[in-house]
Amino acid sequence: MALMQLPRETIQHENKAVKSRSCHCAVQFGVMEYWIIGAILLLIGLYYWLIILTEGVFLGRRLVVWLYDISAFRYDKVKDYELEDEQILVVEPILAGTRAVAPRLLDVATGTGRVPYFLMEDGRFEGEIVAIDGSAKMLGYAIKRIGELSAESQSHISFHHENATPLPFEDNSFDVVTSLEALEFLPDDAAALREMVRVLRPGGFLMVTRRKEWEAYAFLWRYRSRENMQNLVEQMGMGRVQLLDWQSNYDLVIGYKD
Ligand SMILES: C[S@@+](CC[C@H](N)C(=O)[O-])C[C@H]1O[C@@H](n2cnc3c(N)ncnc32)[C@H](O)[C@@H]1O
Repeated sequence: MALMQLPRETIQHENKAVKSRSCHCAVQFGVMEYWIIGAILLLIGLYYWLIILTEGVFLGRRLVVWLYDISAFRYDKVKDYELEDEQILVVEPILAGTRAVAPRLLDVATGTGRVPYFLMEDGRFEGEIVAIDGSAKMLGYAIKRIGELSAESQSHISFHHENATPLPFEDNSFDVVTSLEALEFLPDDAAALREMVRVLRPGGFLMVTRRKEWEAYAFLWRYRSRENMQNLVEQMGMGRVQLLDWQSNYDLVIGYKD
């Protein structure tokens, strides 16, 4: 059977048409892909910045506390606080800074009870510890951990589900106020510091932390340099303010109320 012969020009014309159709589709699909990938990358970046790095602080107090509520179960595993390290980082600075024999200590944003636990575990602190946190779940783990201490040690500690600002305590009612790894997650760090100084007695010891290293810059306009933090604390009526190297990503800020 004889094959039908199409004229050469017709075949070339058909091929061109097919080529130009598929080429057109590929360009359209590429542009769409570009936008979708761009949007996904933007969302991942925003999520990483707003939720992972800055823990919701730009989206409000409720979100910060909710994030701690839902991740409380793994907080101690992630932090993995070692007894020997906490002795140096937490217990010794508090004991060295405290002048009262049986001090009344307030720990703001206590989390899973780091300050009360390691201080009472050490055995030299004879005062009272009032520990507050905005996350009920974090406090639940704090209470569980304190349960490992003796009944006598436990009797020195009380936990309260409270926000850092305003503090529900009278002026000049504590000898020591601590707040570790928390200021950068509070809605207004200056307002929170002002509250801590307000409840501190004259001569009382303040011990807080300043976020540093590259992650600190993710807090943008909330970032505080060493000088800025020193000035802020001094302006609030604190004397002998010192910023000390503490952990890899935090400085310790200590001072005494004038
Ligand atoms: C990084 S953890 C630090 C916990 C503890 N101080 C430590 O060093 O392990 C921050 C804590 O701040 C608490 N927090 C965040 N916003 C708060 C607020 N507005 N008032 C009180 N606590 C708050 C969180 O629930 C969380 O327990």
